Amino acid sequence: MSIASDGALLQVEGLSVTFRSRDGDINALRDVSFGMAAGESLGVVGESGSGKSLTSAAIMGLLPANAVVSGSIRFMGRELLGAKESELRDLRGRRMSIISQNALTALNPVHTVGAQIIEAIRVHDDRPSRRELRDRALALLDLVGIPQPSSRIDNYPHEFSGGMRQRALIAMSVANEPDLIIADEPTTALDVTVQAQILDVLARIQERTRSSLMLITHDLGVVAGVADRVVVMYSGSIAEQADVDDLFHQTAHPYTRGLLACLPRLDARDRSTSLYRIPGFQPSPSDRPDGCTFHPRCDVAKPGLCDVDAPLLIEVGAGHIARCHLAVRHHPRPDGSDQ
Ligand SMILES: Nc1ncnc2c1ncn2[C@@H]1O[C@H](COP(=O)(O)OP(=O)(O)OP(=O)(O)O)[C@@H](O)[C@H]1O
Ligand SMILES: [Mg+2]
Repeated sequence: MSIASDGALLQVEGLSVTFRSRDGDINALRDVSFGMAAGESLGVVGESGSGKSLTSAAIMGLLPANAVVSGSIRFMGRELLGAKESELRDLRGRRMSIISQNALTALNPVHTVGAQIIEAIRVHDDRPSRRELRDRALALLDLVGIPQPSSRIDNYPHEFSGGMRQRALIAMSVANEPDLIIADEPTTALDVTVQAQILDVLARIQERTRSSLMLITHDLGVVAGVADRVVVMYSGSIAEQADVDDLFHQTAHPYTRGLLACLPRLDARDRSTSLYRIPGFQPSPSDRPDGCTFHPRCDVAKPGLCDVDAPLLIEVGAGHIARCHLAVRHHPRPDGSDQ
């Protein structure tokens, strides 16, 4: 049992993913553990290449064939690693569903949006009549905020704007009211106003269907308004994990502090640009430095420690863990809660 939170819905334990290649093994994901409770929103944050999409692909059973997986993924009491493909196929869409990162190209251009939503419903439920299916598709388009669904349902994807296509994809992925929705960077390609609307739609759906939401993003600002808990990933491992308030106010890992410093300031004149960038680059999985993988970019790294010993995840507060030699425990408040 790890010190990661216990998830009644999902419990990922010691998840590792290795790709075999001619040049040797690539340990893309290393010992990732976290849990999700029913109805919870979890933000998964990290720079490009940190392992966010691989984590979601492992949960969905959609890793490429050359990936070697170990650890455990328990979902609704069932072990998914090693489960039959037919069992996973049955869970996908019905119990868990992903809005994938390349969502804007995921719609089929030769079928109408309505036909694709209807197909998403029919995969798991072929009983409804054509009339019922169409009504359900209209209700879904309405739920995701498409204006005048009856005049839009027979449109082709190219007749939709980027934001509307994203809404249509969300409609498809929530068509069967899954217990877990994974949204992999659902707002990256959209402008700031539409981003906010899409996040609103996800929150509304979650409230209505009581589903759990795993929101993957490179932007800590996005998780601030949506997530209950946050997992911060760096170079294929978890760097920090905490309730959202603790993550922002009791930040324990220098990498998380760096991500926070990258956020555009509310009082900045141009909010599209931030003043800070974490120096350097995340190492590739085949070329990680000794010691802490973050030490070459860390402004507080201690020579002789951080460049030598790989830190373990340590508990710094209730439900708050960080993989840093220098992380200090924050003290409980007088009322018993962590401050
Ligand atoms: N099929 C593969 N073969 C080899 N390495 C892979 C494969 N897929 C992913 N990786 C490696 O695994 C690491 C994590 O990739 P992943 O796609 O999970 O990153 P991510 O955090 O989702 O990044 P982004 O924000 O760019 O989407 C990367 O270093 C990537 O190069
Ligand atoms: Mg990704």
